[in-house]
Amino acid sequence: MAETADLVTVALDELLPRADGPESRLTEAMRYAALGPGKRLRPFFALEAANLFDIEERPVLRAACALECVHAYSLVHDDLPCMDDDDMRRGRPTVHRAYDEATAVLAGDALQTAAFDILLHPDTHESPAVRCELAARLSLASGARGMAGGQMIDLLGVRDDLGGVARMQRLKTGALFSYAFEIPLIIADARDVHRQALTSFAHDIGLAYQIVDDLLDVEGDEDILGKAARKDHAQGKTNFVTLLGLDAARHRVAHLADQARAHLDVFGPDADILKASVDYVLQRRS
Ligand code: IPE
Ligand code: IPE
Ligand code: MG
Ligand code: MG
Ligand code: MG
Repeated sequence: MAETADLVTVALDELLPRADGPESRLTEAMRYAALGPGKRLRPFFALEAANLFDIEERPVLRAACALECVHAYSLVHDDLPCMDDDDMRRGRPTVHRAYDEATAVLAGDALQTAAFDILLHPDTHESPAVRCELAARLSLASGARGMAGGQMIDLLGVRDDLGGVARMQRLKTGALFSYAFEIPLIIADARDVHRQALTSFAHDIGLAYQIVDDLLDVEGDEDILGKAARKDHAQGKTNFVTLLGLDAARHRVAHLADQARAHLDVFGPDADILKASVDYVLQRRS
């Protein structure tokens, strides 16, 4: 994972725009947001899932960088005072703290469009149809029927309804997780049985990941997390932890993890690293 994170950071550094004029404040804020010490988990999943197929690494790496740009943008906006109002992210001041709110809004906007710039560039794939498919799926995963829609539900608050919380999590976190696996599936033009397996794995691991995030908000160490904890309850958020309590939420994560590993059986030992990454999701402290 550390090796993949380094590979992605180097590639992102090359792909993100630089500027000389006064707009360099914007490109610096974009770089601050995207190149900071994140886990690069979504790119890791894209690259690791790609190893299950006979495809080149370069298109996957570029698409994974595009995904990480959207993820970084989602965090910049998530931290704004009008959303979760957070001062720390990845162990450093959030973008609106290090710069200012307007710059943070623009950095998020420009990171989002940078993602599509990267995907649609001919270097990403020789086939325009594949590039279009990669872009179309990322726009679905990011927009009103994906991450942004889920963030809206999160802010409005779902009340006492497990189905509603599951739907919110699927949109706000699950959609971008699923896109990580769609990258190799699109590029490899994968068979249905493999599509099914990775789509189901993505669903379970994405949900487990967000429940662990919600558990860490209650039980985590702010210094290790690199962001504030014990805020979800105070901000009136509804999630599996606030609804079910700690034990039942932990139980649900364990169940999702078993289910996730089982979906990978069709790949045999080729999926051993992906299977092991499930333990990381369960045990992570940051
Ligand atoms: C944080 O994502 C937001 C959630 C969806 C829980 P990550 O935990 O992947 O954050 P970074 O990229 O490592 O900072
Ligand atoms: C954010 O969920 C998910 C996004 C789509 C950005 P959270 O608001 O729980 O993420 P953290 O805890 O701030 O990282
Ligand atoms: Mg939030
Ligand atoms: Mg937040
Ligand atoms: Mg959280």
